[in-house]
Amino acid sequence: MKAGSIEGQVLIADDQQDVLEALRLLLKGEGFRIESATSPGAILAAMETRDFDVVLMDLNYTRDTTSGQEGLDLLTRIQTLDSAVPIVVMTAWGSVDLAVEAMRRGARDFIQKPWDNARLMTIIRTQVELSAALRRGQRLEAENRLLRTENRPTMIADSPAMQPVLQLISRVGPSDANVLVTGEPGTGKEVVARTLHAVSGRASRPMVTVNAGGLAEGVFESELFGHVKGAFTDAKMDRVGRFELADGGTLFLDEIANVPQNLQAKLLRVLEVGEMERVGSSKTRRVDVRVISASNAVLPDEVAAGRFRQDLLFRLNTIEIHLPPLRERREDIPLLASHFLSVHARRYRKALSGFDPPAMQGLLENPWQGNVRELNHVIERAVLMAQNGMVRPADLALRPASQGTTRLEDMSLEEVEAFLIKKALARYNGNVSHAANALGLSRSALYRRLQRYGL
Ligand SMILES: Nc1ncnc2c1ncn2[C@@H]1O[C@H](COP(=O)(O)OP(=O)(O)OP(=O)(O)O)[C@@H](O)[C@H]1O
Ligand SMILES: [Mg+2]
Repeated sequence: MKAGSIEGQVLIADDQQDVLEALRLLLKGEGFRIESATSPGAILAAMETRDFDVVLMDLNYTRDTTSGQEGLDLLTRIQTLDSAVPIVVMTAWGSVDLAVEAMRRGARDFIQKPWDNARLMTIIRTQVELSAALRRGQRLEAENRLLRTENRPTMIADSPAMQPVLQLISRVGPSDANVLVTGEPGTGKEVVARTLHAVSGRASRPMVTVNAGGLAEGVFESELFGHVKGAFTDAKMDRVGRFELADGGTLFLDEIANVPQNLQAKLLRVLEVGEMERVGSSKTRRVDVRVISASNAVLPDEVAAGRFRQDLLFRLNTIEIHLPPLRERREDIPLLASHFLSVHARRYRKALSGFDPPAMQGLLENPWQGNVRELNHVIERAVLMAQNGMVRPADLALRPASQGTTRLEDMSLEEVEAFLIKKALARYNGNVSHAANALGLSRSALYRRLQRYGL
C-alpha cells in the first residue's frame, strides 16, 4: 500500500469490460476496494447490499444510445437509495452539456473519457474523504439527537414492563422504518410517536398528525392527499394534503383502524412507492414520509373481519411497539402521579408537596381502565380540590371498583352516555365508524364526545 493512501469502497460501472478492467487496476493500485457493475440493474443491486464511498459511473448503457438519458435517470435512482454517496460520472469527450446536466442532478464531479489517471485519482480521493467526513458527521448528529432531550415529550417508563418499549424506541427511532404503536386508550401511544420522531433524523422537520377517527368519510381523502381547485363542489382552491405537508418529516396516522376501506388502497400505494395524486389531479407527486401509526383496535382482528387490508397492515407494522396497560406497570404510578402533580400545580399556581400515604395507596390500587390519561385527569382534578398542601384520598374521588353494578338510575345523563359509548367501542374493537353506526351518531359527533369524556 502506498504511503498516505486512504481506504475506501468504490463502485465502478460501465458496460465495457476493458474500461472496467483499466479502472480496477488503477484504483486497486491506490489501495481502494472495488466492486463493478455492467448494467443499471447491477448498480442498483450492488447499492442495496452495501454502502459505497464513491460511485464512478458511465452515463451510457444501452448500445447505440449516446444521449445519456438512461444514466441521468440512474443518477436520480441511486440518490434515492443513498442520498449521501458521492457520484462521479464519466462522459465521452465533448459531451459537456451532459456532464453539466449530471452535475445539476446531483453528481459531485465528472471525468471525460479517455481520462487522465492523475486527475481521476484526485477526484476519487477527494470524494472519498468528503464522504467519510459526511457520514461521520451524520452519525454524530444522530447520536447527539438521541442524547438531546429538549424536544422530546416527557415519557416516564421505569417499570420492567416498559423496558422492551424503551429498547425498541432507541433501536428503531433513528431509522426510517414504519412503526405501528398499539395499546389500550390512554396508554401513551402519541407520546411514543412523538418520541420516535424526536430521536429520528427527521426531528427538525414537522411531525404531521392525521386522526382517522376524527374525520368525516367525505373529507378524508382530500385531508390526506390534498385536492385541486374544482375537484368537487367545495374545492374553491388548491389544497395541500397532510402527506405533502409531512414531506421530509413524519406522518402520524392516529386511530388507523378507522381509515375508510376505499382509502386503504390509496394509502398502501403511497407507503409502497411514495407516490400520490391530489384529488382531481392526474399529476403524480413523490413524497418522502415516514409513517408512524397508532391503534387501540386489535388490527389482526380487523383484518380477519374483513375491515382492514392485510397488505396495508404489513406495510404499517414493519415494527410494532405495544404499550402495556397501566395496571400491568403499577411501578410507574408514583413517578407518573408526581409528574402530573407538578405539571398541574404549576399550571394552577398551587403549592402542593405531594400525596399523603392513603392517597398514594389509592392510586396504586385503582384499576385505571383509562390508563395514563385517566391518571392525568384524576390528578388534575385533585390538584384543584386539594387544600393544605397535600393531596388526600377525597381529592382523588376514586370510585370503588364496582363499575359492573352501577345502576343507570344512579347515573347522570352524561355518565350514561359515556358508559354506552365505552360499551360500543369495546364491542367494535375501538373502531369509531362502527361504534358510531351502532349508536346512531356520525363519526365526528362520536369523536367530539370521545374528546369531551376523555375516552
Ligand atoms: N409514559 C408516559 N409518561 C408521561 N406521560 C404520559 C405517558 N404516557 C402517557 N402520558 C400522558 O397521558 C396522556 C395520554 O397519552 P396519549 O395521548 O399518548 O395516549 P394514547 O395511547 O394516544 O391514547 P388514545 O388511544 O386515547 O389516543 C397524555 O397526556 C400523555 O402526555
Ligand atoms: Mg392517541
